[in-house]
Amino acid sequence: MKEICGLLREELEGYDWVGFYLVENGELVLGPYVGEPTDHTNIDFGEGICGQAADREETFLVDDVDQENNYLSCSSKVKSEIVVPIFKDGKVIGEIDIDSHKKSNFDEEDKDLLDEIAALVKKIL
Ligand code: SME
Repeated sequence: MKEICGLLREELEGYDWVGFYLVENGELVLGPYVGEPTDHTNIDFGEGICGQAADREETFLVDDVDQENNYLSCSSKVKSEIVVPIFKDGKVIGEIDIDSHKKSNFDEEDKDLLDEIAALVKKIL
């Protein structure tokens, strides 16, 4: 999973922090990632962009994180973010989270790619 993170970060523009969160005991726990270390190793459902995506069971695509009230900042350099849930048997078991230093870095094409990756990764979780 860390290799997937590394590949995405290397190959795709503006993928500055790429990581997985995994659901453990009802919360999101930081899994493999590449990029700067983050303080947000444990996130409750509903908390921040990651927690909201898990709670609502849907992708969150945020063009400008500075406009968000319910947001957990890892670094002031981060400007946009996408969080894609990983589903197994109809339940959220984790997420792919990408941060970018560029505003509006993500669109539907990124969502489609990350949905495909999520569908593959669920097989090894
Ligand atoms: N920004 C996220 C927290 C995780 S970091 O991006 C790695 C959030 O608001 O949930």
